[in-house]
Amino acid sequence: MKTLYEKAKLGNIIASNRFIRSATWENMASEEGHMTNELYELYEELAKGEVGIIITGYANIVKEEKPNAGMMGMYNDSFIDEYRKLTNIVHAHGSKIIMQLAYGGTKTTYNVEDRIIFAPSEVPDLTTNVKGKPMSREDIEYIIEAFAEAGRRAKESGFDGVEVHGAHTYLINQFLSPYYNKRTDEYGGCLENRMRFLLEIYQRIREKVGTSFPILVKLTATEFFDGGLTFQETIQICKELERIGCDGIELSGNIHGKAKSMVGKIFDGHELVSEGYFIEYAKIISNETNIPIITVGGFRDITIIERILTETNIDFFALSRPLLTEPHLIKRWKTGDRTPAKCIRCSKCRTPEGNYCVTFNKVN
Ligand SMILES: Cc1cc2nc3c(=O)[nH]c(=O)nc-3n(C[C@H](O)[C@H](O)[C@H](O)COP(=O)(O)O)c2cc1C
Repeated sequence: MKTLYEKAKLGNIIASNRFIRSATWENMASEEGHMTNELYELYEELAKGEVGIIITGYANIVKEEKPNAGMMGMYNDSFIDEYRKLTNIVHAHGSKIIMQLAYGGTKTTYNVEDRIIFAPSEVPDLTTNVKGKPMSREDIEYIIEAFAEAGRRAKESGFDGVEVHGAHTYLINQFLSPYYNKRTDEYGGCLENRMRFLLEIYQRIREKVGTSFPILVKLTATEFFDGGLTFQETIQICKELERIGCDGIELSGNIHGKAKSMVGKIFDGHELVSEGYFIEYAKIISNETNIPIITVGGFRDITIIERILTETNIDFFALSRPLLTEPHLIKRWKTGDRTPAKCIRCSKCRTPEGNYCVTFNKVN
């Protein structure tokens, strides 16, 4: 029988348990995306708290495109030494660390006047109303290569793997989405074409990092609106990722800010659940593929997580907000205090002074 605190394999990574800190932008890097003492300390705390695998906040892959303040950068080789220090710190405490790589896109209001923002087509983002520049072939090639170079840097920095951010309406998600992607070339139209950008990014990274370096992809289960990417399509994308050797899929949906109004509703035939929002979707994908599945979103209760582990083929459980409140939560549960996470899911953790738990004010 699988247990949460046993060694678990994700690609080539042997994690000390099945818990993952899901990517969480900290708003603590320098203006240029460089590491700060605050960030080193935060990652060390997570590692001391025995998180099996830590996924970094999203790191930008080209300097000119930064969807948020204070995010980490991975857009040139100047980052390698400081991330080597980071990965050494985390490894010294027995945790593994994966870097999340992202191109933001139009789902941002950060400095949007000052820069060109790429998009598949000229469709304004539903939440920000920002319109991007439809990408030319050259633009697409430029971004694919930038992802791949960032992957190479991650490997050289000692990260245990990378995660490509293909969820949350960022650029790759927009290519996958029939709502945002209105292209008529080989990157738009049928699903095979819409997933081409993601698959080419994956493959180019693979060419640079070799066969044994883990590459994960974070995907949205469904887009939760008419005309968006459907769950049936996401299943097909996962199967294709499995076919080309992807090491793991984190299934998300980005509803954490509005979960209260969405939990209990049915989308694409499945219900959003209060404890583990996307669990119904993750279950199906874990049955239909042999790729390790990470479920993220809305976990607070270890008893329920344990039940899901034993009743499904889901392999890993990722948490974001609960670890902002309690960086040592995983160790706390392991050492016998199994009360649910203190996080009350208020989602007020984004602040101009850095992202942290305002409710419990960093108290562990
Ligand atoms: C402050 C904050 C920053 C986040 N940053 C990222 C990010 O950089 N990349 C990402 O894929 N998801 C990001 N997320 C989403 C989380 O990874 C996670 O999918 C979501 O919060 C649901 O998990 P939870 O209920 O455990 O918080 C962020 C969430 C929060 C609250």
